[in-house]
Amino acid sequence: MTTTTAGNAARDDHPGPGGPADSPFVRACRRKPVPHTPVWFMRQAGRSLPEYREVRAGIPMLESCRRPELVTEITLQPVRRHGVDAAILFSDIVVPVAAAGVDLDIVPGTGPVVAEPVRTLADVDRIRAIDPSDVSFVDEAVRLLVAELGDTPLIGFAGAPFTLASYLVEGGPSRNHVRTKALMHGAPDVWHALLGRLTEITLAFLRVQIDAGVSAVQLFDSWAGALSEADYRRFVLPHSATVLGALADAGVPRIHFGVGTAELLGAMGEAGADVVGVDWRTPLDAATVRIGPDRAVQGNLDPAVLFAPWEVVEAEVRRVLGEAAAAPGHVFNLGHGVLPETDPEVLTRVVALVHEATTS
Ligand code: CP3
Repeated sequence: MTTTTAGNAARDDHPGPGGPADSPFVRACRRKPVPHTPVWFMRQAGRSLPEYREVRAGIPMLESCRRPELVTEITLQPVRRHGVDAAILFSDIVVPVAAAGVDLDIVPGTGPVVAEPVRTLADVDRIRAIDPSDVSFVDEAVRLLVAELGDTPLIGFAGAPFTLASYLVEGGPSRNHVRTKALMHGAPDVWHALLGRLTEITLAFLRVQIDAGVSAVQLFDSWAGALSEADYRRFVLPHSATVLGALADAGVPRIHFGVGTAELLGAMGEAGADVVGVDWRTPLDAATVRIGPDRAVQGNLDPAVLFAPWEVVEAEVRRVLGEAAAAPGHVFNLGHGVLPETDPEVLTRVVALVHEATTS
């Protein structure tokens, strides 16, 4: 049986010596002193690794997410290879939406594609709530992983209501989010009903992961940067704040991330995060001023810089670390996910460099 979320609070209030709750990653999220700056990479488990392509061969993406042993193997691959300070569960933001009965697929090279886009209240009503049994494969994978990982923390995650809504309303990936914004402004009742339903699904999905033992959660609002701050505050923030607020006592740090969010960094922190993820466009010292002293930052090496000569990569890593010195806590990461063509050996060198450069 699962333990309760409240039970996990005890784990955090009385961390024993060692263990994931006392790891450099969780300590940095909590703005506590660290032996070195922790580092992990968004999309570290995935197509940049040959061993990933090998185990995934012939298995569709969504199907892979539903096989706990395969999820465990893929999640562990970058930990073994790079020595990162945290693992991130191999899954996808649309997994809970599929579990809620939405007919969708993840198309290679494209991303999530939804058979019948959601545009009316009747469409919203067809999206079910989920209960833990709908995603029991996630519970099982997290338990297997926590047993394997020992002191290395596992990060759980979910898509934020806005980014999920964008896929559902557009029917797939979108550059301008035109239909999403048209719905938001033109039919706010439908919009808030949809985001309310996605909030419940996201929360249920994160609670399963927390109850199964993840050490932190990240809410991916990848496309929030498409919005003005005023629209973000009106149409999105209340829903993301419900998700993050409901997890305030869950005993694990909450990371809130989006791309192109320079204007939204303060608001994204206000939504209730312990850590705000910053893309590569905003230097971390400037981001820290916007986010304030009560939250740590995560980021923010440009993933494209990993394709430059090593001297450039090294200088950029050192620049990010220098700018992060202004932050009350720093988790080193890229400003967005690892690009599929990235040389994995460069990632390994970045991990070693961050550790060496920050060990006192
Ligand atoms: O970070 C990790 O290593 C954990 C795994 C992870 C995946 N997706 C695996 C995946 C995570 C955290 C995600 C989150 C996700 N999925 C986001 C938020 C993060 C971000 O990048 O902003 C978004 C927007 C999605 C939606 C999605 N799923 C996209 C845009 C794609 C890429 C489509 C493509 O093929 O170019 C996917 C598919 C996906 N999710 C893959 C992986 C490894 C590729 C599938 C494959 O290998 O066949």
